Amino acid sequence: MASEAKQQQQQQSILVTGGAGFIGTHTVLQLLNEGFRVSIIDNLDNSVEEAVDRVRDLAGSNGSRNLQFHLGDLRNKDDLEKVFSQTRFDAVIHFAGLKAVGESVAKPWLYYSNNLIGTLNLLEFMGKYGCKKMVFSSSATVYGQPETIPCVENFQLKAMNPYGRTKLFLEEIARDVQKADPDWRIILLRYFNPVGAHPSGQIGEDPKGIPNNLMPYIQQVAVGRLPELNVFGHDYPTKDGSAIRDYIHVIDLADGHIAALRKIFATDDIGCTAYNLGTGHGTSVLEMVAAFEKASGKQIPIRLCPRRPGDATAVFASTEKAQKELGWKAKYGIEEMCRDQWNWASKNPWGYRPQP
Ligand code: NAD
Ligand code: UD1
Repeated sequence: MASEAKQQQQQQSILVTGGAGFIGTHTVLQLLNEGFRVSIIDNLDNSVEEAVDRVRDLAGSNGSRNLQFHLGDLRNKDDLEKVFSQTRFDAVIHFAGLKAVGESVAKPWLYYSNNLIGTLNLLEFMGKYGCKKMVFSSSATVYGQPETIPCVENFQLKAMNPYGRTKLFLEEIARDVQKADPDWRIILLRYFNPVGAHPSGQIGEDPKGIPNNLMPYIQQVAVGRLPELNVFGHDYPTKDGSAIRDYIHVIDLADGHIAALRKIFATDDIGCTAYNLGTGHGTSVLEMVAAFEKASGKQIPIRLCPRRPGDATAVFASTEKAQKELGWKAKYGIEEMCRDQWNWASKNPWGYRPQP
């Protein structure tokens, strides 16, 4: 990129909510590498400040100059006032939220309160301080159990659990906010299944407790923290009987956010628009296990189990809209996803924490 364009960006400040988390850290690093100034607000509910320190180190002089961390909670308006009164933001990337489906079924109040109230407060402060550009983390969960695949952005939306409903409601709220005040420019990014880690092996996903999602679970089996992988469902009408998903490298996902940000800055009439971020390719659970075994050289013992309630047979993205309108396309395949996930896991078997 021309140095003039980089310099211009250097004057652009981005607020990243939830920037200490899995997708947040990878996106903040790409933003810093691209010359943006970044402020993070995170309550460290599902993350640690060490992750932010590692991002700062990886970004070198851009990290020491252009990254600020605020410990704060979006449900607390005093925390938001502090952050917004200190810096004039050009745009917000909003990752902060709770994301465990099972927990959301057990504690719906917590999910509605954290994800909805947190976002309503954020929108209020963005309006108050005249920052009306937002990239929002939505999810393929808003397609529910799709009747046809690939999932296209104009499909009818439905949610299967409280977590999914928070994403569905927040998409609707974003559309209403933008309709009421056309100065707003909002992009809703519907992520498919983010996996992998930064190739340095310094940052990656570090879930608390027993992982719910496939790849962190496989990773913990590979490093000996868990004995075997439960494969949920081996009688699906797929080539090997296991379910199919669209796994996407977190680095591609982070690049998708930069593309969305550029689109927002460049397009007066973007309105409130949704894009899928996926690869468009489906991979089965057993194929993913085989790819990880190959990348790590470790054997992953499996136990074939009944289907997990609420799971769809096959979900993958239509990627045409993002490719055409954002000029973005995923570059990495499952080999790179597994290679980088294993690199992170082998260097950090206990995540950011020391071995207990
Ligand atoms: P993550 O849990 O690693 O990161 C979320 C961050 O938000 C955490 O650091 C957490 O401490 C912070 N946070 C939560 N509530 C907060 C609050 N009230 N105030 C301030 N900070 C708060 O999750 P992630 O995987 O990086 O996901 C980021 C976003 O993307 C989430 O909104 C999630 O729902 C969405 N998403 C994730 C996936 C996935 O598989 N990882 C898929 C689709 C959508
Ligand atoms: C899950 C969430 C979805 C969220 C997405 C983000 C559910 C029901 N859905 O999607 O809302 O947006 O994460 O990435 O939780 N699997 C196993 N063994 C395991 C874990 C998973 O076999 O220990 C299988 C699952 O049955 C599924 C596949 O692996 O077929 C992927 O599972 P997971 O990583 O949890 O993602 P999703 O279910 O697609």
